[in-house]
Amino acid sequence: MSLSPGRSSFDVFEVFTPGTQARLNYVPRLSVEGRITQALQTPGKQVIVYGESGSGKSTLLLKKLEELYTEHITTRCSSTTTFEELLLDGFDQLDQYYTDTSSNSSGRSRSLTADFLRIQATIGSSTSGSQTASRIVPPQLTAHRLGQFMGELGLCWVIEDFHKPDESEKTQMNQTLKIFSDLASEFRRVKIVAIGATETAREVVEYEPEMANRVDEILVPLLDDDELRMLLENGQRLMNVDFTSLVDSFVQYATGMASVCHQLGLNACLEKDVITPAQRTVRFVETDLRPIAKRYLNDCSDTLKKTFDMALHRERKRKYDNCRLILMAIASGQLVGMHNYEILDQIRKIHHDYPSGNLTNYLNELMSDKRGAMLRHSSDGRFRFIDPLHHVYAQITLIEEPVSDFELDFSPSPLSADYLAQVLRTGVIHPIGESGFLESRWGVNMTDGAQRTGPINGRTVGPTSHE
Ligand SMILES: Nc1ncnc2c1ncn2[C@@H]1O[C@H](COP(=O)(O)OP(=O)(O)OP(=O)(O)O)[C@@H](O)[C@H]1O
Ligand SMILES: [Mg+2]
Repeated sequence: MSLSPGRSSFDVFEVFTPGTQARLNYVPRLSVEGRITQALQTPGKQVIVYGESGSGKSTLLLKKLEELYTEHITTRCSSTTTFEELLLDGFDQLDQYYTDTSSNSSGRSRSLTADFLRIQATIGSSTSGSQTASRIVPPQLTAHRLGQFMGELGLCWVIEDFHKPDESEKTQMNQTLKIFSDLASEFRRVKIVAIGATETAREVVEYEPEMANRVDEILVPLLDDDELRMLLENGQRLMNVDFTSLVDSFVQYATGMASVCHQLGLNACLEKDVITPAQRTVRFVETDLRPIAKRYLNDCSDTLKKTFDMALHRERKRKYDNCRLILMAIASGQLVGMHNYEILDQIRKIHHDYPSGNLTNYLNELMSDKRGAMLRHSSDGRFRFIDPLHHVYAQITLIEEPVSDFELDFSPSPLSADYLAQVLRTGVIHPIGESGFLESRWGVNMTDGAQRTGPINGRTVGPTSHE
C-alpha cells in the first residue's frame, strides 16, 4: 500500500478508525498473516480465530478475506443466539445471490437455486417482514444444505463471537464445522471461520478430537508496541501531521489497544482541524496533550458512567460489595492489570477473610456482558480494564472520591483532562503508596506512604510511585 499524502480521496476518519476495522491504515500482522492465508487456502480446513477483545481479529480477517475471497458473509452471535437463528441468518444472507437473475448467476446449479427458493417460500424472506425470532427452520434447511448453498457460491462463512451462545446450542454449532469440512470434496472453497474473543481456541469451539487436523486455531495477539508505533507513524504520514513527540505517550497508555491509539491519533488531528491530509505538515508539541485528552474524555464521559453503574449494580446487599472491591483493587495498580493473587492481597488488606471464591466469581461477572464487560483476562494471566480510560476513571471515582453504595453520580465527570493528560505524559497512573489505595479509601489507618500530597483534578491525592 502506498502511504503518501497528496491524494485527498480519504479523510482522517478512514485513517484513524477507533470504532471499526482498519483498512487504509492497516498494520501488517506478520506473526499470524501467513497462517491465516494458508488456512483459508486449504480446502476443508475450518478456522478458529481467537484472542483478546481488540486484538485485531476482525480487522485481520477482513484484510485476508478481501485478498482471498470475492465474497464472504458474516453472522454475529450473542449469548441468546440459537443454532436455528444462526442457520436462518446465514440463509437470509444468501438471498441476494440466489434471487439475483443477472447473467453472472447463470452458472449456478438450477436444482440448488430451486431448492433455495422453495425453502425461502416456506420460511418467508427476512425482507418480507417476518421476524427471524418467530420464523421456524424447516427440516430441509440443515447445516449441510446451507453449506451446499454457500459452497455453490464459493463463500466463506464468518461467525463472529462464536463462543457466546449457550452451551446447549454449541453441540450443533460444533458439528457444523465437521459438516462444512466434509463438504470440501464437493465445494473446495466453502468454510467456516469462527471468531471468539477468548483466551483459548477451545473456548470458541469444542470440536471432536477427530477434527483436530481439519481445524486451524489461530491466536491473534494484541498489537505490540512496535505495531502500535507503526500505526501512528502511518497515520501521521497519511495525514501529513507530526505528533512524534506524543507517540510514546500514546503507545504507553494504549497498553496494546490499537483502538486507543486510533482514538488519540484521531483526536490529535481533529484538534487541529486536519480532516483531509494537510498541505503543509502540522506539528504537535507536548502541551497539545491536554486538549487531546479533553476530547478523549468528552467523547466517553456518558458511557463511562453507564458502564460503571452496570458493573457496580447490587440487587441486594451482601456481606461484601464484591464488584466494587475488585474494581478498586485493580484500579489501584497499573494499566497492565493484576494477577488474581495480587487482587486478593489488595482486597485482604481491608477484608482479611475475603473469600477467593468470591473473587473468581465476580471477576467472571465483570468480564461478562451482564456487567458491561469492563475487565479482561489478558494472555499474560493478569486481569485488567479493557479500556485504560475505565482504569483511570475507576481510580478517581472509586478510590479518590468516596461514593454512595448505590450510585455514582458525577456530573460533570470527576475525571479531569489535566489528570488524563498527566497519565498520558508520564505513563504512570495514579500513584499508590506502599499500603495501597484501598486502605485510605476505606478509612483504615493511612500509613505515611499513603498520605495525600499533590493536587490532581483540583483535589489532593497520594504520593507518586517515584516517592
Ligand atoms: N492490523 C491493524 N492495523 C491497524 N489497526 C488495527 C489493526 N488491527 C486492529 N486495528 C484496530 O484495532 C481496533 C480493534 O480491532 P478489531 O475490531 O479488529 O479487534 P477484534 O479483535 O475483532 O475485537 P473484538 O474481539 O472486540 O471484536 C480497531 O480500532 C481497529 O481499527
Ligand atoms: Mg471483532
